[in-house]
Amino acid sequence: MRHNLTLQDISRLSFIFYMQIFYTISKIKKYISEHKNKKISIGFVPTMGALHKGHISLIDRAKAENDICICSIFVNPIQFNNKEDLLNYPRHLENDITQLIAVNCDILFAPSEKEMYPVPDNTIYNLGGLDKFMEGKFRLNHFNGVAVIVKKLFEIVEPNRAYFGAKDFQQLVVIKYLVKKYSIPVEIISCNIVREDDGLALSSRNARLTKEERAIAPFIHQILLKAKEKSRTNSVNEIKNMVSEEINAKPLIKLEYFEIVNKSTLENIEKIDDFSDCIACIAVFVGNIRLIDNINFL
Ligand code: PAF
Repeated sequence: MRHNLTLQDISRLSFIFYMQIFYTISKIKKYISEHKNKKISIGFVPTMGALHKGHISLIDRAKAENDICICSIFVNPIQFNNKEDLLNYPRHLENDITQLIAVNCDILFAPSEKEMYPVPDNTIYNLGGLDKFMEGKFRLNHFNGVAVIVKKLFEIVEPNRAYFGAKDFQQLVVIKYLVKKYSIPVEIISCNIVREDDGLALSSRNARLTKEERAIAPFIHQILLKAKEKSRTNSVNEIKNMVSEEINAKPLIKLEYFEIVNKSTLENIEKIDDFSDCIACIAVFVGNIRLIDNINFL
């Protein structure tokens, strides 16, 4: 369904449906300090916009488990290691706002880049090495950029609970570490991956796939299911070989990595002793679009 609402229409609608939109830190902080005094619990869903059913499931859960739900939309430039990816990242603020109103999100925080970074933030976080595995090898400084923005957002929004999708599994582990390390009083809630009917994990980047690429993309989930099945009988090396051979035999898909790692430390697992420790994570290029996914072996 297409929405042709202008930002003006939306401001009117958000007033009717009581979703407040804040564009500045000072205004949202004022709102939050008033509500914190009333001991209201805040569920927070940080996003980069281009909202899909996966994000909406996080909003639904945040709403169900808290007195109010705050969503943020901010395409964080410092977590992109690739300029082209940042430029091409989908931005549909009007459509996002319409979706948030439809699910009764209470507050949207949509700051500008200047608002979040009035001066460059060069903070370097020690993320316990968790940022160096998998994504970290291919996206230099990505998790430091995530840590900078997530910590800033937590300080502004002061949520009781924050909701993240398990598709970005490494991000979840890194954020849990950040929160522990800096004693940030927020509970991090991991939410199940939401998939299309054909198994493709929902991602804002899916919208950029061509028809042919979209048709092949569900293979990512299929190969993960096969890897899990093989984990019952085959060695880690055999599973890895199977995945890389089958992916590379497909047109349009190129494997960047496939790793079987310990869920807490993210270290490679050489031999599977306990399925509950193991998660398989994958990153591929489908055409020019980089997609990630994962599967628990339990
Ligand atoms: O997962 C995302 O959308 C982003 O990495 C996040 C957590 C909103 C930080 O920019």
